Amino acid sequence: MNTTYLSHFELVEEPYSTSPNPRYLYISPTHNLALEKTRWTITTKRGLALVFGSVGTGKTTLARELAQRLEDDPTVTYVFITNPNYPTPNQLLRAINQEFDVPQTSNSYLDLLNIFKNFLMTQVLKEQKTLVLIIDEAQSLKAPLLELLRQLMNYESNDQKFIQVVLFAQEEFRVRLQHPRFRNLVNRAAMSSTLDNLSYAETVAMLRHRWLIAGGKNFPFTDAAVEQIYSYSQGIPRTQVIIADNALLAAFVSGQTQIDADIIHDVVKDRGLPDTQPLSPTPVIRKHQVRSGISSVRRSPNAK
Ligand SMILES: Nc1ncnc2c1ncn2[C@@H]1O[C@H](COP(=O)(O)OP(=O)(O)O)[C@@H](O)[C@H]1O
Ligand SMILES: [Mg+2]
Repeated sequence: MNTTYLSHFELVEEPYSTSPNPRYLYISPTHNLALEKTRWTITTKRGLALVFGSVGTGKTTLARELAQRLEDDPTVTYVFITNPNYPTPNQLLRAINQEFDVPQTSNSYLDLLNIFKNFLMTQVLKEQKTLVLIIDEAQSLKAPLLELLRQLMNYESNDQKFIQVVLFAQEEFRVRLQHPRFRNLVNRAAMSSTLDNLSYAETVAMLRHRWLIAGGKNFPFTDAAVEQIYSYSQGIPRTQVIIADNALLAAFVSGQTQIDADIIHDVVKDRGLPDTQPLSPTPVIRKHQVRSGISSVRRSPNAK
């Protein structure tokens, strides 16, 4: 079915899949600003950057884009936690230690904190590394885990934080952070960004961009069709992508290569507006690390 759908539109890949593939990311001004602010926080080692956005505005895709850009820098080691829903700070700390390949461990939480602190100091001061912790779905971090992050932010010298933390979170997290309990953490945020919904012009650009990346030539959506996608989706890229994908399928089934506003109306009427809730994330940690730096620490596990 899919091959036929692809060949019908002369595509190499599906242009409107909902997987958060950064190759398909259209860098809108709001996405660009968030990326720039975050990278500034990391390169100047200011510690904490926050990125907020409603469901489907591109947080996970942007987090992956950020990770990919960090990969180009050999002085950076990053760990990417996609679902930080750990019951206790101990478990989060253990996961962080493990993923940064910290050579020592301990059963005691306090010892583990010290081990991690020493690891950070060695990496940053001796090896001149930049260590980055990216956390997606940060709204699901329980209060004691946020407390742990605050504590990690305390590890610093006069001019830099030893670990850079980037949190991607849904809007509700912003409200939660206003609680006095989290003031200490929020005060440590160097930069905060919000991913806005796309404007009409950005919607056009995003749909066209994805079409090109997928190997498409003749963009099939009429202006009126894109206007309808924009209006139904209220500018939320995830909804736009789902409607566009359904429309391609509907056009394919009826043998059309052009998609007009009627097809969009039909798709929405038949299937309803897509649920904006994404599938629940898998509790997977993705990481990247600079081999040489990490292994040199391994060779001298007692280095301070
Ligand atoms: N700026 C964008 N350009 C292209 N596609 C986007 C953009 N923002 C979001 N999407 C698409 O919308 C869907 C949801 O994005 P995702 O990153 O999972 O959002 P969030 O994590 O904020 O819920 C994905 O298919 C993603 O590719
Ligand atoms: Mg997400």
